[in-house]
Amino acid sequence: MEIVIIGSGIIGLLSALTLTDAGYKVTILARDLPKDDSLDWASPWAGAAIYPHPDTGGQPLQVETFKYYWALAHRDPTSSVQVVKATEYYDDRENDDSIWYKTLVPRYRRIIAKDLPSGAKIGFTYQSMTVNPAVFLPWIKKELESRGVQFVRKTVKSLREAEHITGCRVIVHASGLGASGLANDKNMVAIRGQTMFVETDFDETSLHQGSHYTYVIPRMYTGGAIMGGVSQPGNLSREVARELRSDILHRTRKLCEGSFDSVDLQRDVKRDIVGFRPYRKGGFRLEVEGNVVHAYGFGGLGYAFSYGAAQKVREMVDSLVRKQL
Ligand SMILES: Cc1cc2nc3c(=O)[nH]c(=O)nc-3n(C[C@H](O)[C@H](O)[C@H](O)COP(=O)(O)OP(=O)(O)OC[C@H]3O[C@@H](n4cnc5c(N)ncnc54)[C@H](O)[C@@H]3O)c2cc1C
Ligand SMILES: *[C@@H]1O[C@H](CO)[C@@H](O)[C@H](O)[C@H]1NC(C)=O
Repeated sequence: MEIVIIGSGIIGLLSALTLTDAGYKVTILARDLPKDDSLDWASPWAGAAIYPHPDTGGQPLQVETFKYYWALAHRDPTSSVQVVKATEYYDDRENDDSIWYKTLVPRYRRIIAKDLPSGAKIGFTYQSMTVNPAVFLPWIKKELESRGVQFVRKTVKSLREAEHITGCRVIVHASGLGASGLANDKNMVAIRGQTMFVETDFDETSLHQGSHYTYVIPRMYTGGAIMGGVSQPGNLSREVARELRSDILHRTRKLCEGSFDSVDLQRDVKRDIVGFRPYRKGGFRLEVEGNVVHAYGFGGLGYAFSYGAAQKVREMVDSLVRKQL
C-alpha cells in the first residue's frame, strides 16, 4: 500500500519513518526539502531542544518523542542528537506540581531557592537532548531514501492534487503553515522567532518560561549555541531586527549567570536567524478527515512532539487502510 505525505518538515519526515517501519511504501511531496535554506518552512530554524512542556497537553506524544530521541542519541550520535544537561526556570508558578515529566526524564533535580537566578521562582535540571536540524534533516532523509522513500519537490495547490499526482488513496497532510491554504484552516498563525548563533563552549541547554521566553541550545558539530527567544504572533517580517540581538544577549546572560559575560555581539554572533512557527489556535491537529490524515500546528514544539505525532499518524493511516480494504 502506498501513502503520500505532503510536507518534508520534521513531522512529515518522522511520519515517513513510522510508516515505512510498518511496511508502507511512501512518497513525500514538498515545496521545501532538507538542506533548503528558505524561510517558507520551520524545521531548519529550530534550536532544537527536546523540552517536554508542562501546560500544552499531549503528554503521551511527548513521552514517546523523548524516548525516541534518547535512544537515537545513544544508538547513532552522527544523527546530531546528543544528550545534554537541561535547566528550566519559571517565574509563573510556585512549585513543580505541573512538571508532569519529572518522573520521566533522567536525573531530575530541583534547584534550591538560594541558587536560583534573580526573577526565577522555581528551577530544576535533568538530562534531555538537543538536535542540530542542519545535520538531522539530511540524515533522516538519507535514512528514508535507503528505505525506498521517494522525495519529490512539488508545490501542491490542494490535497486532491497530491492524490492525482501519485495515485495514492491515503494522504498524510503535514504542511505546517501551509495548512491555512491546503486545509483552509483559519486557526493557523505564524509566530515569528528570532535567534542568533553564537560561538561559545557552553554545552548545556537552559530555558526560562513565564513572563519571558529565553533559551540557549548548544549545536553539536558546530562549536556554538543558539540563543533566543522571541515570540511575535502574526508578524511576518523576514528581516533581522538588530535591536533584538542585545535584548536576547541581555536575557541569556541573566539566564546563565556568568557564562556569557565575555560574549561580544560584533565578534561572536556568526549568524542571525528568523523563523516562523506553525502555531494553531486551539492546539495541534492530529485527525482523520475523509482519506486525509492531518498532522500540523505544533507551533514552537514540533521537535518535542515529532515522534509521538508520527506514531499517531501511523495508527490513523492503519485505520483508514482497514476501512478502504
Ligand atoms: C526560531 C525557532 C526555534 C524553534 N525551536 C524549537 C525547539 O527548540 N524545539 C522544538 O520542538 N521546536 C522548535 N521550533 C518549532 C519547530 O521548528 C516546528 O514546530 C516544526 O519545525 C514544524 O514542523 P512541520 O513539519 O510541522 O512544518 P515545517 O517544517 O514548516 O514543514 C512544512 C513542510 O510542508 C511543505 N509545504 C507547505 N505547503 C506546501 C504546499 N502547498 N505544497 C507542497 N509542500 C508544502 C513545506 O515545504 C515543508 O516541507 C522552533 C521554531 C522556530 C521558528
Ligand atoms: C515585526 O517584528 C519586528 C522585529 O521585532 C519589528 O521591527 C516590526 O515592527 C514588527 N512588525 C509588526 C507589523 O508588528
